Amino acid sequence: MKRSEINHYIEDAMEFWDGLGFKLPPYARFSVADWQANAADCREIFDLQLGWDATSFGDPDFLRSGLLLYTLRNGKAGSPEYPKPYAEKIMMVREKQVTPRHFHWYKCEDIINRGGGNLVIELFRADPAANRICGGRFAISVNGMRRELDSGDKLILSPGESCTMEHIHCHKFYGEHGSGSCMIGEVSMVNDDHTDNCFVDGALRFIPVEEDEPVRYPLACEYGRLISVKK
Ligand SMILES: [Fe+2]
Repeated sequence: MKRSEINHYIEDAMEFWDGLGFKLPPYARFSVADWQANAADCREIFDLQLGWDATSFGDPDFLRSGLLLYTLRNGKAGSPEYPKPYAEKIMMVREKQVTPRHFHWYKCEDIINRGGGNLVIELFRADPAANRICGGRFAISVNGMRRELDSGDKLILSPGESCTMEHIHCHKFYGEHGSGSCMIGEVSMVNDDHTDNCFVDGALRFIPVEEDEPVRYPLACEYGRLISVKK
């Protein structure tokens, strides 16, 4: 992705969420200089990579395949320093903008439609031990109610609805055509996007950035490179 796209889509997401009444932490608008000035007090934010996250999953077209997220809270598995066992994210998912099929070996997550358009989730039964899709019928909790689906079925979440992704639930999602962008929440166990995503079709979670303009909002995965912290 180009830096200009990342800057632009972050500003778009801030405006979209703000319009739906969802407020981000004060540091969501921090520049690199702001982070640097506050670095001594921000170790938890840096260590847990709270903040902005943008990816096109390796697709040259972010609007075809991509996701703009903000990690609001997180912990670190097995860490005495950060024992928080839960995580929360907010995402902007556009119409027909695909997050490719994946499952998580460790994390169990609730995907919540918090406002805007409808979210389409295609679900496939996974065999996490073998890193593959295995097909067949499975149960899933939708709005706290048990539902049975076949591998490949679609679930549509309108605002207020949610479902629980367990390890066998391989999921691909996008905004429903014609219903507008969605504000999607994720409430989950602690999250490590570097190690706990199995993209069954080979998508990339972290992508190279082409620096065509200055960084306006550092991504959480860039803190280590852009901000120096005295130990
Ligand atoms: Fe997921």
